[in-house]
Amino acid sequence: MTPRDPAAGVTGIAARVTPQAFQAEQDVLGRCWTFLGYDWQVPNQNDWFRTTLGGRSILVQRFEKSISAFENKCAHRGYPLRNEDRGSGALVCGFHHWRYNAEGVALGIPECPAMFGVTPRELDARLNRVELAQVGPMIFGRFAGGPAISFEDWMGPGLPILKHLTRDLVPSKPSYERVVQSNWRFMVDISLDDYHIVAVHPSTFGKNGYLNPEQVHYARFGAHSAYLPGGSQVALEEMTQACERGDYAPHRYRIFQFFPTLIVAVVRIADAFGDTYWALTIQRFVPEAHDRTRAISTFFPLAPKAEGMSQKAIQRRLTWPGMLAGFKYYGTRVHNEDNEACEKLQAHVRLDDPTPYLAKHETRIGWFDETYRTVMQGGMPGA
Ligand code: FES
Ligand SMILES: [Fe+2]
Repeated sequence: MTPRDPAAGVTGIAARVTPQAFQAEQDVLGRCWTFLGYDWQVPNQNDWFRTTLGGRSILVQRFEKSISAFENKCAHRGYPLRNEDRGSGALVCGFHHWRYNAEGVALGIPECPAMFGVTPRELDARLNRVELAQVGPMIFGRFAGGPAISFEDWMGPGLPILKHLTRDLVPSKPSYERVVQSNWRFMVDISLDDYHIVAVHPSTFGKNGYLNPEQVHYARFGAHSAYLPGGSQVALEEMTQACERGDYAPHRYRIFQFFPTLIVAVVRIADAFGDTYWALTIQRFVPEAHDRTRAISTFFPLAPKAEGMSQKAIQRRLTWPGMLAGFKYYGTRVHNEDNEACEKLQAHVRLDDPTPYLAKHETRIGWFDETYRTVMQGGMPGA
């Protein structure tokens, strides 16, 4: 039993209760590498989507040579550049028609010399840029001014793992998307909690009772953590090496929590016809307000390729759609059970809530709290 350490007063409880503390927290977290979406959401030049980073609306757009992202706020007078969730078109503000390039510089300004006395180049008005990095189809971003760490170093062993797991992903729409009336940290916490399964998921995860503490070991790397049944750091190293070599094949449940809001899991769906079907789940929490979070999950078939006309290949192609449909039903149920619990926690959260006790099966919550505190204090987790 470990009392949750409330040291330094940066446990984030206020950010769960008040909009001001939430925005202050998000200002810091928006400078950490955060998963934003997939490149297939912007397949063609000028395609864009809108999302949230650090509590601010941002837009991600494909330009001629690359993808760029900016805060969704015109440099002229702050008008929102994008007012829908997705679309296609040049980056032109609807208020006074300022037009931006891929670097976020306003190069098309109506009547610029007459209105401002200089050329657009001289004015050099710029959007607030989001720095981007990509792993396979996954786009990550951060605002400037955060920890001085490269994307590679931030992800650590998680990078080759993600690279390998996402290399054959088929573009897919979210399998689950819901606005949950809960602070995002309750939702992260429940995803790091192997103690609630019997009470909250009695007919699925928890139907076989509690996990045996002797067999539960967690791994921690940098700001992130993992649960890999069958081993801890060694299993993490083995998986990293197999992914680097390119010969990793799913054989056990694995779950990775990437600070702050990304969860990636390799899940066995079922055994059928002498074959095992595995899914990759990519889950993202988008903190939208102190008491509101958008939960987006996509379930992908892992190793879906079954080419050729062998009986096994044909069987797999026929079986996959039903497997995925069943998994979606199961995943939706588990997500809803978790989200309902989080909404109840949110409805009762108070600034003077007592310090919780963390069980062995909640070890990763303690690690997350530690990382959170370090980041809030301007430090570098794992350094
Ligand atoms: S606010 Fe965007 S052009 Fe004026
Ligand atoms: Fe759960």
